[in-house]
Amino acid sequence: MTQIKNICCIGAGYVGGPTMAVIAQKCPDVNVTVVDINEKRIAAWNDPNVENIPIYEPGLSEIVKEARDRNLFFSTDVNAAIDKADMIFISVNTPTKTYGIGKGMAADLKWIELCARQIAEVAKNDKIIVEKSTLPVRTAAALKDILDNTGNGVKYQILSNPEFLAEGTAVEDLQNPDRVLIGGDIDSPEGKEAMDALVNIYATWVPKENILTTNVWSSELSKLTANAFLAQRVSSINAMSELCEKTGADVNEVAKAVGMDSRVGSKFLKASVGFGGSCFQKDILNLVYIAKSFGLHEVADYWEQVILMNDHQKRRFAAKIVKTLYNTVSGKKIAILGWAFKKDTNDTRESAAIYVTDYLLSEQAEVVVYDPKVKPEQVYADLEYLCTHSSEEIRERVTVVQNADEACKEAHAIAVLTEWDEFKELNWKAVYENMLKPAFLFDGRRLLDKKTKEELGFEFFSIGN
Ligand code: NAD
Ligand code: UDX
Repeated sequence: MTQIKNICCIGAGYVGGPTMAVIAQKCPDVNVTVVDINEKRIAAWNDPNVENIPIYEPGLSEIVKEARDRNLFFSTDVNAAIDKADMIFISVNTPTKTYGIGKGMAADLKWIELCARQIAEVAKNDKIIVEKSTLPVRTAAALKDILDNTGNGVKYQILSNPEFLAEGTAVEDLQNPDRVLIGGDIDSPEGKEAMDALVNIYATWVPKENILTTNVWSSELSKLTANAFLAQRVSSINAMSELCEKTGADVNEVAKAVGMDSRVGSKFLKASVGFGGSCFQKDILNLVYIAKSFGLHEVADYWEQVILMNDHQKRRFAAKIVKTLYNTVSGKKIAILGWAFKKDTNDTRESAAIYVTDYLLSEQAEVVVYDPKVKPEQVYADLEYLCTHSSEEIRERVTVVQNADEACKEAHAIAVLTEWDEFKELNWKAVYENMLKPAFLFDGRRLLDKKTKEELGFEFFSIGN
């Protein structure tokens, strides 16, 4: 049986970092080296003050503190880590393509391919390659093609082991996963042996019945399917939220009533200003692209609607602010509470806050942003990336401040865009007193209690109510 002694993970991001930290914690006899070409990111992972690691996740810094320099290492020496490893996880970014064929839809696999080529160049002994990144179905075939054509006799087994963690709960999700999925070549003894080696790593802490083994293609496609189903639930409830606003129904009550049907289930039915994050949109667009490339246009259209609904939800929330403020926000101060795409993470990728702010800037608003975990430069970079407004205009109109009270002071309106717990606990009476009147409060997360806010004097609007 293959006993794994050395693991290398290429990509020290939101998945590679936490996943490897938990593997190192649970398997102290396995050496885990996480490598990245981003020197700044690796330096942050190695920062002597563990609170400065580049990713904020509850519980993560404690694990890094426990395992770092024991059996968990962060390095920029990719070749050395590849050379030493028995098992290599590829956990690099696979964003939506921004050029060429499939632009705006397909996953950009150039970083995946670069990893495969680097492994092919460096490896001198047999390796198990694990796809940890989310990939289009059949990517393993392309990896195999690259790896098997070096002529140096090194043999590879390619496994698919998609990651289901959600940001903000990454440590909990990794320590107690609903399931672990491992796809491999189940028809060959070598394939089965490689799968067993990875099963054994997870079995250190995950009950065996929760570790599923499948063929590679099922595993690859299951990941895209899982994200599409989850996002579809959010778009479904968001669609109903608009109908609730027109009819006097309350979307939270509808979600509760529907979710108590055990066939539907209660999770992922929280109406919001729209889902964000690096995965849902990217993975559904990729699914749509794959379906189209097989000529399955009805399948593609069905899933694309999830994205269209989400875009609509973000836009209509921003439009509601403008309409409510007497059809103009020009020169008005709007406080944005929360920039991360959800609470308990510093990740802002595809966050609804970016799009709502961009819309408000087009209406010439003055925007003041506060988020407890996001740095000012990230806010500016996110807005600049959209290319709707010049860098100068963004820096002139957008201010990032260090606390919520400062953001709300003398504002015409507040928009709550991330459900950080601290926003529930604000001294809302003082916030109200320090605002211009009428004081408008837009809750994009159904975080705040309408009744108490209205009693304080706010003009209160929340999604689906
Ligand atoms: P990320 O951008 O945070 O991290 C990827 C890292 O890979 C970057 O630091 C980058 O510098 C590094 N990298 C790229 N090419 C490299 C190379 N050739 N050599 C060394 N390092 C390289 O991305 P992420 O959020 O960790 O996502 C990684 C993958 O996992 C994606 O496919 C994503 O879809 C998937 N995924 C993400 C999540 C999530 O919650 N973020 C959850 C499940 C799956
Ligand atoms: C998602 C998947 O949940 C995870 O399994 C996968 O590995 C990566 O993609 P993530 O994007 O990190 O995880 O967070 P998630 O909790 O799924 O939230 C995504 C977005 O949907 C957030 O903006 C969140 O606020 C929003 N959301 C989620 C809702 O608006 N309502 C809900 O009921 C749930």
